[in-house]
Amino acid sequence: MSEYILEIQNLTKDFPGVRALEDISLKIERGEIHSLCGENGAGKSTLMSVISGVYPKGDYQGKVFYKGKETNYHSVKDSEKEGLAIIHQELALSPYLSIYENIFLGHMQTTFGIINWNYYIQESKKYLEQVGLQEPPETLVSKLGVGKQQLVEIARALSKKVDLLILDEPTSSLNDDESEKLLKLILEFKKQGITCVMISHKLNEILEVADTITILRDGRSIGSYNVKEEKLTEARIIRDMVGRDLTHRFPERKSTPGDTIMEVKNWSVYHPEYHGIRVVDNVSFFLRKGEILAFCGPMGAGRTELMMSIFGRSYGYRSEGELYINGRALHLTSSKAAMKAGLGYISEDRKGLGLILIQDIKTNISNSSLEQVSRFGIINTKKESMRAEKYRRELNIRTPSINQMARNLSGGNQQKVVVSRTLAADPDIFIVDEPTRGIDVGAKTEIYNILNDLTTAGKSIIMISSELPEALGMADRIYVMNEGKIKGVLTHEEASQEKIMHMALVG
Ligand SMILES: Nc1ncnc2c1ncn2[C@@H]1O[C@H](COP(=O)(O)OP(=O)(O)OP(=O)(O)O)[C@@H](O)[C@H]1O
Ligand SMILES: [Mg+2]
Repeated sequence: MSEYILEIQNLTKDFPGVRALEDISLKIERGEIHSLCGENGAGKSTLMSVISGVYPKGDYQGKVFYKGKETNYHSVKDSEKEGLAIIHQELALSPYLSIYENIFLGHMQTTFGIINWNYYIQESKKYLEQVGLQEPPETLVSKLGVGKQQLVEIARALSKKVDLLILDEPTSSLNDDESEKLLKLILEFKKQGITCVMISHKLNEILEVADTITILRDGRSIGSYNVKEEKLTEARIIRDMVGRDLTHRFPERKSTPGDTIMEVKNWSVYHPEYHGIRVVDNVSFFLRKGEILAFCGPMGAGRTELMMSIFGRSYGYRSEGELYINGRALHLTSSKAAMKAGLGYISEDRKGLGLILIQDIKTNISNSSLEQVSRFGIINTKKESMRAEKYRRELNIRTPSINQMARNLSGGNQQKVVVSRTLAADPDIFIVDEPTRGIDVGAKTEIYNILNDLTTAGKSIIMISSELPEALGMADRIYVMNEGKIKGVLTHEEASQEKIMHMALVG
């Protein structure tokens, strides 16, 4: 048996107008954790899709060997049969089916056409235990947070007897705690002899678990490194990823917040289905002109629910409380009304609320601000294109053209389009919910600079962030939430990782 479970030789993959991968050669050792790093659009997801048969043979040039044999997959089904499982960047569960149905979907046995459901419910418990999920198997997947959905996907992979597990940005939607658990799980798999390939933009996590790191840049492989032997550092990885050193991750903030621009008093939000449950419980806070506020707290603390309900009641069965913008009491009952009142929202859920995948980039960017590029109801397409080009340049959106469908962009580049759309609408108050999710280190800095420039121009920003370094690096004040309540507030000077965590738990 070869010591390599997977070997790629001279792989090239083209899309219309884009060479996504060029002459990649790569070997993955049996039983190792192998990480792929690279900027948004570098080709990481495409490479994994080739390996797992998402792109069938003939769609690419070059050779892939799995367990010593050249592969000839026509779809993912073929690779699954051989113990290769991929968990995509965008989760792919059926929300209205139960956990156990999702686990066994597509590979249930029938006896005379009858499925023994009880058997599968029992079977699923085995895998749920392995991934540490305590929910009853009958729970609908739509009731689970992203972190737990991730675990269901892994349980599904395990149920198919996996030898090579590919995880595309598994921790991008998880908080620190959940990420830590997932990384432990991956290390546990390694002990059981499962090989893992993990894509991530969180370099600290990669250095924690990976045995080998391969770096891609513009579709080419820059090199593979043995983490322990080479004493790899984040700085070194970044240099290889972006081709230069990146010294300042956060801009120098000279913050001089002005008067209060927005105030929220005694705000409560009720669960959309269980109407009696308060998801947000009597929250009050204020925001000043030119200020960046961060909201930190564990997953489920109620931060997104709070902000979405403020943004024109976009969440919740109902909400109560007072909202003042520039001293005026407002009752915003739709997202449209919220935008009119000067609010803008960059959603954490780029697929659901952010992007229209089957539209091109420039139309997506214009979606919240058509009036700015039209006159008498007619869109000035030249103006629209120029504006889209401007954002493409400023945020470095990797695409051959702004007429490209959003669906064809890499995950991180889709996120940049979502950010552009809200920037284009030019609100006074930005609510940004995990603005840098899935965005590479270099582009993160670009987004931080943009946020900083916005405040200099007198805009105000509310940032929900699960990355504490980001909140600490950018915010003037930090509100700490847990269980629907504000547990405390810290100024930039006072705040530290420990204090935030302590405050969230103890208050
Ligand atoms: N279906 C497609 N049609 C056209 N171009 C595509 C398609 N899928 C990917 N691309 C292009 O291929 C390149 C590589 O994309 P890929 O999704 O592999 O990047 P990535 O490294 O995973 O980035 P990210 O970190 O943002 O997820 C990008 O330029 C992307 O726009
Ligand atoms: Mg990707």
